[in-house]
Amino acid sequence: MQPALENAPTPEEEDLLFRMLRQLDLAPDASQRSTAQALGISLGRLNAQLRAATQAGLVKVTERNGPDKRQRFAYSITARGAAEQLHLRDRFLSRKFAEYDALHAELTGTSSGLNPFQHRTKHMQNSHAPIPELYVSHESALKLKVEAADLASWDLTPRQICDLELLMNGGFNPLKGFLSEEDYDGVVENMRLADGSLWPMPITLDVSEAFAGNIEPGQDIALRDQEGVILAIMSVTDSWTPNKSREAEKVFGADDDAHPAVNYLHNVAGPVYLGGPITGIQQPVHYDFRARRDTPNELRAYFRKLGWRKIVAFQTRNPLHRAHQELTFRAAKECQANLLIHPVVGMTKPGDVDHFTRVRCYEAVLDKYPAATTTMSLLPLAMRMAGPREAVWHGLIRKNHGVTHFIVGRDHAGPGSNSAGEDFYGPYDAQEMFRAHEEEMGIEMVPFKHMVYVQERAQYEPIDEIEDKDNVTILNISGTELRRRLAEGLEIPDWFSFPDVVKELRRTKPPRSKQGFTVFFTGFSGSGKSTIANAMMVKLMEMGGRPTTLLDGDIVRKNLSSELGFSKEHRDLNIRRIGYVASEITKNGGIAICAPIAPYATTRRAVREEIEQFGAFVEIHVATSIEECERRDRKGLYKLAREGKIKEFTGISDPYDVPVNPELSLDTETVDVDYCAQQVLLKLESMGLIAGN
Ligand code: PPS
Repeated sequence: MQPALENAPTPEEEDLLFRMLRQLDLAPDASQRSTAQALGISLGRLNAQLRAATQAGLVKVTERNGPDKRQRFAYSITARGAAEQLHLRDRFLSRKFAEYDALHAELTGTSSGLNPFQHRTKHMQNSHAPIPELYVSHESALKLKVEAADLASWDLTPRQICDLELLMNGGFNPLKGFLSEEDYDGVVENMRLADGSLWPMPITLDVSEAFAGNIEPGQDIALRDQEGVILAIMSVTDSWTPNKSREAEKVFGADDDAHPAVNYLHNVAGPVYLGGPITGIQQPVHYDFRARRDTPNELRAYFRKLGWRKIVAFQTRNPLHRAHQELTFRAAKECQANLLIHPVVGMTKPGDVDHFTRVRCYEAVLDKYPAATTTMSLLPLAMRMAGPREAVWHGLIRKNHGVTHFIVGRDHAGPGSNSAGEDFYGPYDAQEMFRAHEEEMGIEMVPFKHMVYVQERAQYEPIDEIEDKDNVTILNISGTELRRRLAEGLEIPDWFSFPDVVKELRRTKPPRSKQGFTVFFTGFSGSGKSTIANAMMVKLMEMGGRPTTLLDGDIVRKNLSSELGFSKEHRDLNIRRIGYVASEITKNGGIAICAPIAPYATTRRAVREEIEQFGAFVEIHVATSIEECERRDRKGLYKLAREGKIKEFTGISDPYDVPVNPELSLDTETVDVDYCAQQVLLKLESMGLIAGN
């Protein structure tokens, strides 16, 4: 951070600067006389202060017209001033605590035991006192918003919007902005900020090289949502190119793209990180479930109002079934605490049930809990699925929300299997890491083993507490099995879930044979993609039932992508456009058949993730060899490519990533088109996507 003033200020000067910035934030445009009065200093002293702060860029002076000479200038804080105010506030509080401690010692001969930043959190936990937010006052926000029009703007990604919201509302306390390089290094290496505070997750503002190239440390930038609404100003202190492989290894345990956050890191996040403190202007706008969203301070106020002192939180990204209900009941009983169901509605694992459906499911379950002891609130967190580190992160976030106990179950925030088919983390690694930091975090873990249904006793029990395992029938339905049953319209037993929840899930996820889906052919030019796709389309239309659209490579390039060439950038754009249209078709219950070359695996994966939110993605590799395609050379393009007349030609002078795990690979060299189309139909049938009426 920039030094506030040129010469290191004395503590008294710092206190005064803090109080002055605070006053200007609360009452920008107030007359100098009233500001001086509020601070209890002379007008002369105030003037000197204002001059110095203006020179340091913390305060802005504007001239105003009016008869009264003493009111000729108006002073307000700048974004930098607001960030400095937050920084000085902590130092101010530290000094006040130290003064109090000294006084305590003088009067009683003992220490007060109030170490501001460690014990303060515990102390506050009980009283549910507010925690610091990064917002400026409403008045300053109005001014800063106007001034921000001249700043360079960064349009935040959906994940960055989630991060920013929790930064600004104190959910990520003690962070004051996106991590600086020094903080980032500490977090990646040993889960600690440069000042030693525990923080396990890098919260970074990733941007493009082009944007970073125009930003100098020391500059302020406006952070906007996707509609261009300004949410915050960031005073950039650092700009660096991270070593993403190191970040993946250290934070997620492996540099393996099968991990959703590692995939995001390498293939979605920008190459440069910017760091610096944030000045919050307004919270991101949400139109959905507003009444169910609470900031940390709103939840704290709620707990205060209801007199809840012990609160156990349950984190979830899935619908709640009976096992979860039993687990949460037991947790609340065990620690004699009230219960907070705290589901994540920011970003979860690709392929999860969408949050609209989940919230309807939660609401259906909520009346099974006694209203006086349980509440539910939605958390706009973007999960990283980082298992053990994520558990500690979740704990810190919950502590900020006023929670005292946190449930950590089996495989907390687990990302599934790595590219070798093994789990990234052990099932209880998260509990272990949480336990190691529990004391320091000031939030207690309520560990849970896997809950299973014991048929003879008609109840759920933790698997490790069942002593008569050999004499009872243990029932369990895994997430995968549940998805299969939903997809195939099979029975979901009453012991597993609640009828209302199942109804909601079935409503959004009808059986696969009634859902939309995408068939995505990929392969060299001339491999036979279009021919097979056409044959397929005719067969599907013959069957009827769902509208079917063919997005053929050549045809798309004549319409949707007519201005694009064949560079990597243009090919990616082309495929993303096809993916977008296919996802809309799939979402609305149709069948999209795509047949582009789509040479890049990462782009195909991104399209898969987009589509799988709404329905199945069936990747079909038309595996005709490049030699055979060249031999056929139906369009005469290979000849031109060999002669160098067509540049960047896939398979000749441009790469093609062979699909590693396609749903189907077709050999077109020895079999005819009709047989290939039949194979695809059989695949669709085996996946439950087409069925007899
Ligand atoms: S991509 O990479 O997926 O965007 O390509 P795609 O849109 O499917 O390409 C469609 C057709 O463009 C012709 N063509 C080329 N293909 C590859 N490389 C280069 N440089 C090139 N220039 C033109 C080619 O006929 C593609 O045909 P089909 O047979 O439809 O795959």
